[in-house]
Amino acid sequence: MNSSNKKKIETGIPGLDELLDGGIPRGNSVLLSGGAGSGKTTFGMQFLVNGAEYDEPGVFVGLEEYLPDLKKNMSHFGWDFASLEKENKLILTRLDIWKFGSVLSGGVDMELFADTVRSAVEEINAQRIVIDPISIMGLMYRSDLKFRLDLVGLQNSLRDLKCTTIMVLDTLSGFMSRYNTEEFVAHGVIVLHYIKKNYIRQRGLEIWKMRGTKHSENVHSMEITSNGLKVYSGSPVFL
Ligand SMILES: Nc1ncnc2c1ncn2[C@@H]1O[C@H](COP(=O)(O)OP(=O)(O)O)[C@@H](O)[C@H]1O
Ligand SMILES: [Mg+2]
Repeated sequence: MNSSNKKKIETGIPGLDELLDGGIPRGNSVLLSGGAGSGKTTFGMQFLVNGAEYDEPGVFVGLEEYLPDLKKNMSHFGWDFASLEKENKLILTRLDIWKFGSVLSGGVDMELFADTVRSAVEEINAQRIVIDPISIMGLMYRSDLKFRLDLVGLQNSLRDLKCTTIMVLDTLSGFMSRYNTEEFVAHGVIVLHYIKKNYIRQRGLEIWKMRGTKHSENVHSMEITSNGLKVYSGSPVFL
């Protein structure tokens, strides 16, 4: 079967796909939320690098971190971005969000943003997208309702591209969303925990919601190793 006919997108993150009954339903937009250092960017990059191996090219849309720094940090996991970019399996791009909107205008021109993402997607026939972090857009909105409607618009545009998208959301540790609106709109929500208990930090992963599939309802223990994230599917933790 051609990979683009498969109903699920495998994340390839060790331990995770079995918790998702095979992977993320194709075309879903998934919010990946967590506090600082919880592993969100690593998750996003691993999702894209693994996609390249399954012949599912990917686009990383960075909205905050300086790209050379990001590449340098992520190359420690053994990911060869230069080769993947050369083979047209990956595009890493950084967009200046202020070019798409302002606090004064009360939001982001999502159509223009989606058009910009679309040209990168079409360039390499991408099937995976990571936007990191989407939460920065929320800072421009004065109306939660408008943010919510615009996010729905963006998701629909990305689905029309037949892409499966991870939208990274910076939250305070333990919270699912930042604006109390994104989680209702997204097709899925994955939460990364990074909790301190008795002076020891523990990492965890939780699938809070995933439309179109059954999934684990536990918080699973997770590690960041020299190869990226690793989820312990058999061991629910109680943080
Ligand atoms: N090689 C590694 N081995 C183990 N942990 C690492 C390694 N590299 C980075 N980390 C951990 O990953 C964290 C950064 O993860 P990152 O994906 O950037 O988080 P976020 O995007 O949620 O802020 C670091 O703070 C560190 O704890
Ligand atoms: Mg990050």
